[in-house]
Amino acid sequence: MYRTDPAVVEHFRARAARYNRSSSWADDPVLGARIVELLAPEPQHRLLDVACGTGLVSKHFRGRVAQIVGVDITDGMFSQAGAFIDELVAAPAEALPFEGSSFDRIVCRQGIQFMDDEAAVREMLRVLKPGGRVALVNLCAYGDEDRAEYFEILRLRNAARRNFYVREDLVALLEAAGAVNIEVHDYVSVENVDEWSNTGAIDESAREEIRQIYRHASSGFVDLHAASVGDQIVDHMLFGIIVGEKARQ
Ligand SMILES: C[S@@+](CC[C@H](N)C(=O)[O-])C[C@H]1O[C@@H](n2cnc3c(N)ncnc32)[C@H](O)[C@@H]1O
Repeated sequence: MYRTDPAVVEHFRARAARYNRSSSWADDPVLGARIVELLAPEPQHRLLDVACGTGLVSKHFRGRVAQIVGVDITDGMFSQAGAFIDELVAAPAEALPFEGSSFDRIVCRQGIQFMDDEAAVREMLRVLKPGGRVALVNLCAYGDEDRAEYFEILRLRNAARRNFYVREDLVALLEAAGAVNIEVHDYVSVENVDEWSNTGAIDESAREEIRQIYRHASSGFVDLHAASVGDQIVDHMLFGIIVGEKARQ
């Protein structure tokens, strides 16, 4: 049996009450519509939302597919998702309690960084039907220029995070799990860093360390993130939306 990390559950238990307001991307309708467009769901499809959280991704698929199943490990998060998800399953993504080839579409936004990501993506491909599509949607560093500073910012915001990515890492995860026809799409989310760091699960000293990284950021970081530091710190954060398919046999 797969054992989940108690630090991850504790982090999201502490964040659950204000999760939906803890970033501008969380409930961003444009990002939601982009994910739907790229996964191209059909009315007869079954969708699996891995690490569904409060259901803010599933919300955009509501009424577009026949059934939405959500899987997550934090009760305080998924207990808020009932309006958007038909069936909620408490289970780790690394050991999905579903038969092989049972979903037409799978989405996982901001989940795999907390997981044994290789095992989780392998599981997603196992439960995906041949010809089905999967999307990994994750905040990524732009590349070598910003990687070190950005990963430190992400680590400070959420110490339970295990993995940090550039887009190529997500492609490699899908490839290793056997996905084909992999596409890379970008989405830039403009975040007010003071709001984004106010998760309810980190202390003020970590928030100040984040501000200090922005105040002293390298020119490469500032250029890529179009980061401005005034009364409010603003960061243009990059989402990789990596879409793959399960080969038809
Ligand atoms: C940042 S939230 C993302 C929620 C949602 N996908 C969204 O984009 O709004 C991360 C979620 O991943 C869940 N999670 C973390 N590790 C997990 C695991 N191993 N299996 C399933 N869910 C997990 C957490 O409980 C939390 O609800």
